[in-house]
Amino acid sequence: MTDHGGFSCAVTGFEGLQEEILRLRNANRERPETLDYLSWRYRSVADAPEPRVFWLLQPTGERVGMASAIFRPYRINNQRVLTAVIGDISLDARWRGRGLGQMLLRFMTQHLDEHFPRQPAFVIPTEAARRALTNVGWLTPGSLIPYVCVLDATRYLRTTLRSPRLAAAIARPLQDVVRALTRPRIPRDGALFLSNARDDSAFELVGALPPQECAMRDLGPDELNWRYAQHPHSNFVFGRFYRAGALCGLVVFEDDVLAQACTIYDLAARNAGDLGALLALLVRRSLAAELTSLRMAVDNRHPTRSLLRGLGFVARRVDSVFQVHSSNGVAEKIAWRVTQGDKDT
Ligand SMILES: CC(C)(COP(=O)(O)OP(=O)(O)OC[C@H]1O[C@@H](n2cnc3c(N)ncnc32)[C@H](O)[C@@H]1OP(=O)(O)O)[C@@H](O)C(=O)NCCC(=O)NCCS
Repeated sequence: MTDHGGFSCAVTGFEGLQEEILRLRNANRERPETLDYLSWRYRSVADAPEPRVFWLLQPTGERVGMASAIFRPYRINNQRVLTAVIGDISLDARWRGRGLGQMLLRFMTQHLDEHFPRQPAFVIPTEAARRALTNVGWLTPGSLIPYVCVLDATRYLRTTLRSPRLAAAIARPLQDVVRALTRPRIPRDGALFLSNARDDSAFELVGALPPQECAMRDLGPDELNWRYAQHPHSNFVFGRFYRAGALCGLVVFEDDVLAQACTIYDLAARNAGDLGALLALLVRRSLAAELTSLRMAVDNRHPTRSLLRGLGFVARRVDSVFQVHSSNGVAEKIAWRVTQGDKDT
């Protein structure tokens, strides 16, 4: 417990405080969530420390702000390290802009340094949270860049040209270009199988992936199962890429029927050739499904960027950054590989 100008901070676990967390979270977000969603989000792997919830209390004792740390497995230089993923940062609107957010996040950072000195911490913050975290010493090593492959430009062209026929006439050759870019990457013996269901064979592939000198989320069976198969309201699709009958790649994506868009969350393959083939097959599948676009957000140094560009994806304006902190300096030195799958949604 710490005290400052009558406000104080405290730390608890998750159990028993679900209602209070939900109330504060929903009061400070555009989209309300449910208790079901919260219990999914605060569930962690068996060997992880219990989630920590940090509170800001006003002098009357009423909880007016919170942030939480949930420990999730990452691979840091090929070692499995439970990383404190920060989320649910919320401060009631009437108390903002007075340095109270910083007070709470400083308390959280000190608690993590003291009690979890080997656990790095990671967050994809909003702009307000980024500023507060920067002020309490967090580093911003990179940003998330949304890459978009336009599969059917008719919709975009129609608004400028005002002629559906002209829009379609221009869009068709553009679609042919996208299709042509996929051709050299798809091997004759390559195939992509899609499934909504959990599939252990696909999960096992991840253990056989080449080691990487970086920090990235652990894509092991438990994490993939929790993150995607058990998600309370998103329908993720698992795509398994086979070459010559052997499982060589895995993609997880979500289709947005209204926007006619497909968003890739995670992508992994045994080597660069398999990764290209897998992505090219997903472009083909999205063309066949008559989607308007295929999207993937990756960090600004992610190795997949050149592959995305080669398949006709265009980088859009940066829409978020990621921040890290560690008391032993590990998180600040290493290269982080971040995708949409790291977002605590
Ligand atoms: C993120 C959030 C917790 C930040 O809280 P906050 O109190 O507004 O942030 P701060 O503590 O940094 O205070 C903001 C400003 O108050 C000013 N301030 C006033 N008095 C101050 C004092 N005594 N000490 C420090 N700063 C003070 C600072 O200038 C600071 O602005 P800066 O950006 O120039 O540093 C809050 O904005 C929030 O809940 N937002 C909505 C939900 C959200 O975005 N959550 C993040 C999800 S990741």
